Amino acid sequence: MKKITTALLLVMMCLLQLNAAENKVIRIATDQTDLVFKVGDNGRLYQSYLGKVLKSEADLKFLPLGTEAYLTHGMEDYFEPAVRVLHNDGNPSLLLKYVSHSTSNPQPGITETAIVLKDEVYPVQVTLYYTAFAKENIIKERSEIKHNEKKPITLYQYASSLIHLSADKYFMTEFSGEWAHEVNMTEQQLSFGKKMVDTKLGSRAGMICSSFFLLSLDQKAQENTGDVLFGTIAWTGNFRFTFEVDNMNKLRILSGINPYASEYTLKPGEVFSTPEFIFTYSSEGKGKASRDFHDWARKYQLKNGEGSRMSLLNNWEATYFGFDEAKLKELFGEAAHLGVDMFLLDDGWFGTKYPRNDDSQGLGDWTEIKEKLPNGIGHLVKEANAQGVKFGLWIEPEMVNPKSELFEKHPDWAIHLPNRETYYFRNQLVLDLSNPAVQDYVFGIVDNLMTKYPGIAYFKWDCNSPITNIYSAYLKDKQSHIYIEHVRGLYNVLKRVKAKYPELPMMLCSGGGARCDYEALKYFTEFWASDNTDGVERIYIQWGFSHLFPAKSIAAHVTSWGKQPLKFRLDVAMMCKLGFDIQLKEMSENEQKLCQDVVKNFKRLQPVILDGDMYRLVSPYDTDHAAVIYNSKDKNKAILFAYDIHPRFAEQLQPVRLNGLDPDKRYKVEEINVIKEDRQGRRPMPSVNGQIYSGDYLMKVGLPILTSAHTSSHVLELTAQ
Ligand code: GLA
Repeated sequence: MKKITTALLLVMMCLLQLNAAENKVIRIATDQTDLVFKVGDNGRLYQSYLGKVLKSEADLKFLPLGTEAYLTHGMEDYFEPAVRVLHNDGNPSLLLKYVSHSTSNPQPGITETAIVLKDEVYPVQVTLYYTAFAKENIIKERSEIKHNEKKPITLYQYASSLIHLSADKYFMTEFSGEWAHEVNMTEQQLSFGKKMVDTKLGSRAGMICSSFFLLSLDQKAQENTGDVLFGTIAWTGNFRFTFEVDNMNKLRILSGINPYASEYTLKPGEVFSTPEFIFTYSSEGKGKASRDFHDWARKYQLKNGEGSRMSLLNNWEATYFGFDEAKLKELFGEAAHLGVDMFLLDDGWFGTKYPRNDDSQGLGDWTEIKEKLPNGIGHLVKEANAQGVKFGLWIEPEMVNPKSELFEKHPDWAIHLPNRETYYFRNQLVLDLSNPAVQDYVFGIVDNLMTKYPGIAYFKWDCNSPITNIYSAYLKDKQSHIYIEHVRGLYNVLKRVKAKYPELPMMLCSGGGARCDYEALKYFTEFWASDNTDGVERIYIQWGFSHLFPAKSIAAHVTSWGKQPLKFRLDVAMMCKLGFDIQLKEMSENEQKLCQDVVKNFKRLQPVILDGDMYRLVSPYDTDHAAVIYNSKDKNKAILFAYDIHPRFAEQLQPVRLNGLDPDKRYKVEEINVIKEDRQGRRPMPSVNGQIYSGDYLMKVGLPILTSAHTSSHVLELTAQ
């Protein structure tokens, strides 16, 4: 038993006392989750409950008062506050009391609640916003802070959300890594004290850790059972999650913009709006939480989330900077031969005075390199279209190489220190998007290209550098605002792009998968998960992202990076939004035929893979194999992907039990993406091919599809009879 001070004990007893019916109750509910607040006798707001939906409204009065909902600095709870302000008279305290709340239904199935809190001594107001998506079981939270003091106040902490959980044990999974090594899942038990997951990278913010986490109560997170909370912050910049286990073994989760080096001067009347924290609470394990996130993202958040996606051929890994018009025309032909919808021209097409023939120059100057592309982008669009494929283009509009005409003209547009030697990350600097003139310029890159070449069907929008040499010439004495205003400036640009080009598909990329938050994804149809396209590595990377992001939002390309059989790499890429980054001439005729089959299968089965319900079946983290199934919503079709990664000698293989099928339906099983014989002379294992099984059998007994062959894979199509 831990020692606690008498004073603290008294406070805690006070907070935990059972409150009578007179306490005002505010209920935020989805079909499966309840988040309940109560107003204490002292007028302050407490979180009383978060968990499985409670059937009877009449029971809510029995809930304990709980812990203060949006903890302030300067009062008697000494754990990490959600908000910390310094008033202009030098007083650092804030005490928020409930004033009112309101609820509305902007659309069927969505409930919005706003709770207004005020300090009685200082004219500071905080409004907490909650949006509940009933069917998808998602809740979004954010806060707004404003004041009417005579002079500006300073905000030192400004969380989007503070969540309180109560269990015996807490297990948190973080997603961390590096370039080409994204979203490695690490699960750890939380004990007394704080664990922080944050980033200070500014623009390529998620390069080292991603802006989402899993939290499991009482036991390590399970796929199909147990209580888990998945949370993510919708912010394309510095974020911070703080997990704090207090002296009563309660867990507090604070989520928001990282306040590091970002104290914010808030003028009277100005509203400080925090980004959305989005979470789901599942009592049926991780799988259900993922499927809820996928459904919600497709319906409400992703750009064109319910539309279809284009398969493509990208030239980056096939050519890097070394291409010309003739080479590209050859690749248009290869794209058509593969049967994909589009060709995507990557980095290296621009720069007049400083041609971008490597990554040391040209960023910022978005006109074609005449020597490489004498007839310009317009001609390429026409040529691609003539060969039956659409044309997409890579841009990196938020960045500048110092060797560029843009930098020569506007050195003050780049974030860099005026009086120190500049440090360059990938030979480039980040443009200062807090400056409206820079926002106009960045919007103009897309707008000018689209105006000049309206046939461009797609953009890959990259962001390769973190913010370095942190100093904004525009912000002058407000340097601590830069991390925040830069992101807000980016949103101004993205909003304008989406408003003018609402149907334009765009891929979000950041030196691989360093950007995929749900605020940015309002403006992008998909994101690039990693530059690492090795088939085995991708299984882990896609597995990680699949926890919060639907397959539809994850671009996955077949390349020559991995040394696995082509079929293996194709099967892995087909689990998400399929693309290629490879030269066909490296392949045999049989292999080309296999690619064509896979493209055809992907197009035919896209509604199941990209819009269906995903069940993770066999984890590559726990075994030497992996398996995932996608089921159509009507349960008439399912696609099973199974991989043998590094099976052990004489390993005893269990059948893979499927999930999400209709037990009463009978399913015909057919192997697809079949190669007659691979390069190692191995043949696919057809024992289940053509058999008809009941859904009940498939889910209780399963299919013997795992093998002891290294890096082999099978894709099975199940069709209800
Ligand atoms: C980043 C991207 C790659 C490619 C290069 C081009 O690294 O992740 O896919 O576009 O930039 O320079």
